[in-house]
Amino acid sequence: MTKTVTSIHWFLFHVYFSYVLLLTQSAPQTSLVTHVPGFNGSLPSNHYAGYVTVDENHGRNLYYYFVASEGKPSEDPVVLWLNGGPGCSSFDGFVYEHGPFNFEAAKTRGDLPTLHLNPHSWSKVSNVLYLDSPAGVGFSYSKNETDYITGDTKTASDTHAFLLKWFNLYPEFLPNPFFIVGESYAGVYVPTLAYEVMKGIDAGAKPILNFQGYMVGNGVTDEQIDGNALVPFAHGMGLISDDLFEEANVECKGNFYNSVSDNCSSKLEKVDQAIDGLNIYDILEPCYHGTEAEEFSASSYIRLPSSFRKLGETERPLAVRKRMFGRAWPLRAPVRDGIVPTWPQLSNSNNVPCTDDEVANAWLNNAEVRKAIHTVKESVVSSWDLCTDRISFNHDAGSMIKFHKNLTSRGYRALIYSGDHDMCVPFTGSQAWTRSIGYKIVDEWRPWTSNGQVAGFTQGYDKNLTFLTIKGAGHTVPEYKPREALDFYKRFLAGLPI
Ligand SMILES: *[C@@H]1O[C@H](CO)[C@@H](O)[C@H](O)[C@H]1NC(C)=O
Ligand SMILES: *[C@@H]1O[C@H](CO)[C@@H](O)[C@H](O)[C@H]1NC(C)=O
Ligand SMILES: *[C@@H]1O[C@H](CO)[C@@H](O)[C@H](O)[C@H]1NC(C)=O
Ligand SMILES: *[C@@H]1O[C@H](CO)[C@@H](O)[C@H](O)[C@H]1NC(C)=O
Ligand SMILES: *[C@@H]1O[C@H](CO)[C@@H](O)[C@H](O)[C@H]1NC(C)=O
Repeated sequence: MTKTVTSIHWFLFHVYFSYVLLLTQSAPQTSLVTHVPGFNGSLPSNHYAGYVTVDENHGRNLYYYFVASEGKPSEDPVVLWLNGGPGCSSFDGFVYEHGPFNFEAAKTRGDLPTLHLNPHSWSKVSNVLYLDSPAGVGFSYSKNETDYITGDTKTASDTHAFLLKWFNLYPEFLPNPFFIVGESYAGVYVPTLAYEVMKGIDAGAKPILNFQGYMVGNGVTDEQIDGNALVPFAHGMGLISDDLFEEANVECKGNFYNSVSDNCSSKLEKVDQAIDGLNIYDILEPCYHGTEAEEFSASSYIRLPSSFRKLGETERPLAVRKRMFGRAWPLRAPVRDGIVPTWPQLSNSNNVPCTDDEVANAWLNNAEVRKAIHTVKESVVSSWDLCTDRISFNHDAGSMIKFHKNLTSRGYRALIYSGDHDMCVPFTGSQAWTRSIGYKIVDEWRPWTSNGQVAGFTQGYDKNLTFLTIKGAGHTVPEYKPREALDFYKRFLAGLPI
């Protein structure tokens, strides 16, 4: 009898002990980032970084950098952040937009930058997961190079596989609300992935993600609507004359995205000529040309009217990244079905046109940094590039509108935000497609405020679909307007009106 009781106790003890182990099993300590080269001080929250293998056969590995919340990590939402391209690393967002640090370039080009804490980091209010995707981008790689031929569908299913495995590694974050957020070509990544996640939840895929909603910033969405957005944008912004706008409308009959007549094409050429010298990512910012960036920036700032200088002002303590003008794509026809050229493929060089990515390059290609943030050896991924031409990317998911309809009608919240001075994916397109869904307006067009000032405009639709502009911001909103970005971000995550 005694013996039996003891065995039962012993058995129960084991069950209990395994249960406790299971519950407390948490973030892999080998992934903990213990020091961040360039940053002097203690980190305000835990950082983790490493790889998740999404395909064992091929050895396809996706790299992530996870910044736990500086607020309440156990309760704050988990947010997956994706940059676009296709081919661009999500360290773009980490270094230049809403990461935990502001990067100050070293005096000598290429030396380790100095890192300061970013007062507007999105990690103030959320746990942010930066992912290099698809394989071939940033520090993500595959041992089988056929994986570098990829597209929308494969990227979404890989990222879904990544998420399931990642949450298994970090089970303590499973109960937190989960959101998917991205910008630019992530206008395709976000809804296609959200749809995979939704289908996974429906099918009972384990673990069950607490998916709540998504945000898209200046996102590629629909070939026709985005393609027609540039001419009205150029007119509304005062970049082309009333005459040219009227003539283009007459000749093209509202079809700017796919010109079918020579007369229309010749009007569109005149539009292109008029806007040719502008910075495509923010028409208020000067246009930079390689090594002459400094000189050029000084002289062109002087030429800008003072009202424009004011509009482009940013509270970012360190200079906003310098950008030059990227020609030819994606003016007017952001994304068509089929192969989408990457930026390096378009510019025929290893650099992304328009982009000075010096601090990111100096930091992420530093051997000490790579070791500290757990990247693979240089023999596997030789160097970090902001945007890579290693992949061949097929846009095979068509228009995103059907995904947005499906997701919002299932109760997932969506915020479609747009820096209103971006000419790459202009707000006129995002405004038009959100309206085209036809949901009832529940919060009529109104200004929204940040720090006591009008920060942009918003229109709220039924089913928690919200369109929002950020006044004076370019393509990468938090880069230009970090305080305003943190404000709308935190209100959206909390389910509050913006
Ligand atoms: C790091 O910070 C400490 C304390 O603020 C300071 O004494 C030290 O000089 C700093 N080191 C560097 C390399 O900046
Ligand atoms: C790479 O993957 C392709 C497609 O699955 C396969 O046919 C090929 O054998 C693989 N190559 C290697 C070296 O494993
Ligand atoms: C194209 O423009 C020319 C010159 O304005 C005009 O004569 C011609 O009829 C136009 N063609 C079409 C198809 O509208
Ligand atoms: C959403 O997708 C699911 C699965 O494909 C489909 O059954 C459903 O009808 C779609 N709903 C809408 C509103 O399109
Ligand atoms: C919008 O989202 C809020 C917060 O998640 C939810 O309470 C509300 O029911 C949603 N409204 C609609 C119309 O789906």
